[in-house]
Amino acid sequence: MTDFARELFARTLAAPYRTKVVEKVRLPTREERERILAEAGCSPVFLDSGDVFIDLITDSGTSAMSDEQWAALMRGDEAYMQSKSYKRFEAAVREVTGFEHVVPTHQGRAAENILMELLVDAGDIVLSNTHFDTTRAHVENRKALPVDLVGDALWNFQEAIPFKGNFDLAKLEAALARHHERVALVVVTILNNFACSSPVSLENIREVRRLADKHQIPLFLDACRFAENAWFVRELESGQRDRTVRDIVREMMSLADGCWVSAKKDAMTNIGGFIATRDQNLAQRARERLVLYEGFPSYGGLARRDLEAIAVGLEEALDQDYLAHRVGQVRYLAEAMERKGAVVSRPAGGSGVFLDVGSIYPHLPPEKNPTIALCADYYLEGGIRIGAAPFPMHTVSAKTGEIEERMFQFARLAIPRRVYGTGHLDYVAEVTKRVLEVAPQNRGYALVERPEVLGHFFARFTPITH
Ligand code: F0G
Repeated sequence: MTDFARELFARTLAAPYRTKVVEKVRLPTREERERILAEAGCSPVFLDSGDVFIDLITDSGTSAMSDEQWAALMRGDEAYMQSKSYKRFEAAVREVTGFEHVVPTHQGRAAENILMELLVDAGDIVLSNTHFDTTRAHVENRKALPVDLVGDALWNFQEAIPFKGNFDLAKLEAALARHHERVALVVVTILNNFACSSPVSLENIREVRRLADKHQIPLFLDACRFAENAWFVRELESGQRDRTVRDIVREMMSLADGCWVSAKKDAMTNIGGFIATRDQNLAQRARERLVLYEGFPSYGGLARRDLEAIAVGLEEALDQDYLAHRVGQVRYLAEAMERKGAVVSRPAGGSGVFLDVGSIYPHLPPEKNPTIALCADYYLEGGIRIGAAPFPMHTVSAKTGEIEERMFQFARLAIPRRVYGTGHLDYVAEVTKRVLEVAPQNRGYALVERPEVLGHFFARFTPITH
């Protein structure tokens, strides 16, 4: 029998949760927004969150926790050694990932720091579909080279292929043929965050495993958006529709030697992360590093209550009604922005909507900072904070395996989980229309100051007026 209500739920954005606590936000006036932006050095990084009406800078650590997660915080057993909370956390990670050995960390990059130290040496190469920027930085910190082997379709925002986040297998084969002696690690990022949050197919992970095995290179998943990726596999990959997301997550994990997870994304906590692996020896060495950098292996730089919230969040992430709504919100915003004339990445991905900045400011060369222009226009026109950046990559030629530099420039309107409603998304789409209208008058932004360390985060700008 057809179920009218279930069908309606699948078509609308009626959320499978209701609001218990609210947090007030403020929309400053136009005059205020101009002053606030100037004082913030025209950078989204320096805007006070109290001056932001809708904050789309990241989906990381910005989720609304559930009543069950808040209740779990109260169960936190703050014993330094062998706390009960650690046991519950470990059991949840084992259950969701299928990996036996679990190492908690305070967030994803802490896990990257430890794993790169154990697996990567100076002069090595790490191959990924696309490294997230902290992953890239940790590879470079080892004096190794991160290489990104996502398919060329990424550079064409409009090309709607279903698994745009996949490794380009021809590039991977070419890279391995030419450089396998230097390749220390293969990393599949799911979802492929900086590649427009595009999903990776199970089939692709299987093939990557096969190629990595040929040269006995370890394969890890950077899996903070594991549930969203599995949702796309279920929706888009042939033969997967009748499986549960839980089952698909297990299969994705089973193809790797281990994973690291920032719990600030799909697990919907405000802090936390972990490494999980089948390799007992590696886990033991990771725990030794952990004591140096993070804390004892039964808390890894977190309060034990945080471990409880992660345990609950990992389960909530697999709820298919929640995922349908979550991914539905991203698709809804992407389609609404497209109707207003924006060039967004197709198909819509998981964490948010990715915009082609070049299509909005064709008159602004890189030195006039079109990504800063876009962030400024979203704030000035709508009080919205977004993130945007040119993103330098190393990739390889599929023909020769030769390493090449390539730039990818995008803006991301990341949607925090369980935070905003359809009204907010409609508002963002209207502001997008307005931004597209005013963009031709934007003369760009000049760099005022860029510190040596983490310059791209802490740079300040001023509008070009002539
Ligand atoms: N890997 C991926 C794919 C990520 O997206 C992130 C963080 C990390 C690793 C690092 O985790 O922040 O817990 O240390 N991404 C955030 C973002 C910051 O905005 O996409 P972390």
